[in-house]
Amino acid sequence: MAVTIQWFPGHMAKAIRQFEENVSLVDIVFEVIDARIPLTSQNPEVARITGEKPHLFILTKKDLADREATQRWLAYFKDHGQPAIAVDAKDHFNINDVLSVINPIMSPKLAREEQKGMKKRPIRAVSVGVPNVGKSTVLNRLVNRRAAQVGNRPGVTKGQQWLKAGKKLELLDTPGILWPKFASQEIANKLALTGAIKDSVFASDDIALFGLKHFRARHRDQLMARYRLNDDDFALSDVDLLLLITKKLGMRDDYERASNRIIQDIRNNKLGGFTLDNLEELQPNVTRND
Ligand code: G4P
Repeated sequence: MAVTIQWFPGHMAKAIRQFEENVSLVDIVFEVIDARIPLTSQNPEVARITGEKPHLFILTKKDLADREATQRWLAYFKDHGQPAIAVDAKDHFNINDVLSVINPIMSPKLAREEQKGMKKRPIRAVSVGVPNVGKSTVLNRLVNRRAAQVGNRPGVTKGQQWLKAGKKLELLDTPGILWPKFASQEIANKLALTGAIKDSVFASDDIALFGLKHFRARHRDQLMARYRLNDDDFALSDVDLLLLITKKLGMRDDYERASNRIIQDIRNNKLGGFTLDNLEELQPNVTRND
């Protein structure tokens, strides 16, 4: 059964307009993407709107991703001249990781301004990303909760504030939220399995089957250990494997309940780190510098 996902062009147009306005106010854009889906969680509009302005990818949830795959993605971005860092925004975030990447990018511009006699000022940034990718978590970590607001400035939409992130950085308090583009069923499945889209819009058995397919291909040992499977079980089709796991979980033939359990297990890393976007499958034109 196909998953039908609604995409709301009206909301998207408004979000894009707001983001465009915000981009004009900043020096650099932080695009927050999910380390498990570094490609699928990008919105191509961000690169278009950001244009020539510096653009840093912050890959969140590195603690949930396949470690080697994350290294390969970071190397790939580096090779393409695209600044990127991977973070565990939940438990091990360090603002210096961000500063050490953006300082060298921004210092020539700030030095030029100072030479012209302009006042020394912090770097200004705005973050953007698809829902649930970790934008608020990153913002809170960068800003730290007691941070003073810097107050409204001309050009900033009413209600928006600049927040101080250390001495050298200021962030707009409202991250841009752009919806991912559901260009294919595969993309929808990846977003659903990582929790980027609400559970109510997809059939859990479809997503569990998608997850099982990934783990049997890439992390078979984890799948075996978690659900007490043996080698012979891997001769089964994906559907029959799901039914077998349903039984092993003591859920008789309630494969929907088992599907939900499998999805939660995968999201909570009970089967280990995983990355659904693989560099080998990369199409041309996936980053702005390609
Ligand atoms: P958003 O603003 O982009 O919508 O995302 P938000 O920061 O609300 O984060 C969405 C979920 O992702 C949150 O979990 C958050 O804790 C989690 N998260 C963000 N960054 C990381 C990370 O680097 N590693 C891990 N493991 N999780 C991360 P939640 O379950 O919705 O909330 P909570 O129970 O954690 O409070």
